Amino acid sequence: MLSYRHQFHAGNVSDVFKHAILTRLLAALTRKDKPFCLLDTHAGVGLYDLQHPWSQKTEEWRHGIGRVWGRTDAPPGLSPYLDAIRADNADGHLRRYPGSPRIARRLMRAEDRLVLCELNKNDCEALKAVFEGARHTAIHNRDGFSAIRAFLPPKERRGLTFIDAAFDQSDEFGRVARAIREAHTRFATGVIAAWYPLMATQVLQAFSRSLQGIKLPKTLQLELSVHPGDWTEHIRGSGLIIVNPPFGLDREAPPLLDWLWRALSPEKHGGTRCEWLVPE
Ligand SMILES: C[S@@+](CC[C@H](N)C(=O)[O-])C[C@H]1O[C@@H](n2cnc3c(N)ncnc32)[C@H](O)[C@@H]1O
Repeated sequence: MLSYRHQFHAGNVSDVFKHAILTRLLAALTRKDKPFCLLDTHAGVGLYDLQHPWSQKTEEWRHGIGRVWGRTDAPPGLSPYLDAIRADNADGHLRRYPGSPRIARRLMRAEDRLVLCELNKNDCEALKAVFEGARHTAIHNRDGFSAIRAFLPPKERRGLTFIDAAFDQSDEFGRVARAIREAHTRFATGVIAAWYPLMATQVLQAFSRSLQGIKLPKTLQLELSVHPGDWTEHIRGSGLIIVNPPFGLDREAPPLLDWLWRALSPEKHGGTRCEWLVPE
């Protein structure tokens, strides 16, 4: 039973964080003159109407993309992300928020391949409508975790596996850790980016320990939180595990995260983190 619907959360602080970093990973992949494949295991619907009653109900986007999209002082590294949002709101009014598949396709070249998995049937239909006629884009109504086994390694032998699980089931941290292990085992040189919510310290420590037990290559851990550590209303922030990060991301990410944090947390709660989980 699928309970999670991203429409409630589209454009929130976590989306801004994960999509901004996603664009840096794609910028690095497109630097080389060779096609690559992006496997997005939990794709969502691709494009979100911020006027939708579910978005209006939570208004999470106001505290996320609402706080950054009109800013003119963002560092250049955030331009590809902000340009993607602006492209879907060309009249200057923020009404739509593109999800990871749409942001990614915009940055990918024609020959780069996008493989999208979405388990929710209705959301998958909506995703198909967003990408109707798009070339080199495959959409599957299936479980994204098992897709790792089915689709990796990609024939291009270059690529990114983006694991953006819903965390609506018990042991989702365990499933994500196993998915990272499987993706790395099947495609050792591939980049993996896996999102996780900032929850209780014990849960996060157990997650880090399970990842350290996998014997991963160099792995970076990025986090952005906008609430104090004892915040319980909803998640205080989120993180990304990045296996085989592009060269220089450890230096590039901190100022970008710092700018985002200042913009997203006017009360100056929370903070950012960029550390090697597994050093080079
Ligand atoms: C956090 S949302 C994805 C958001 C999207 N990656 C983005 O950034 O725009 C998680 C999505 O995964 C879907 N989902 C839940 N369990 C899944 C599974 N086992 N396999 C694939 N998709 C799943 C949900 O329906 C939801 O649309």
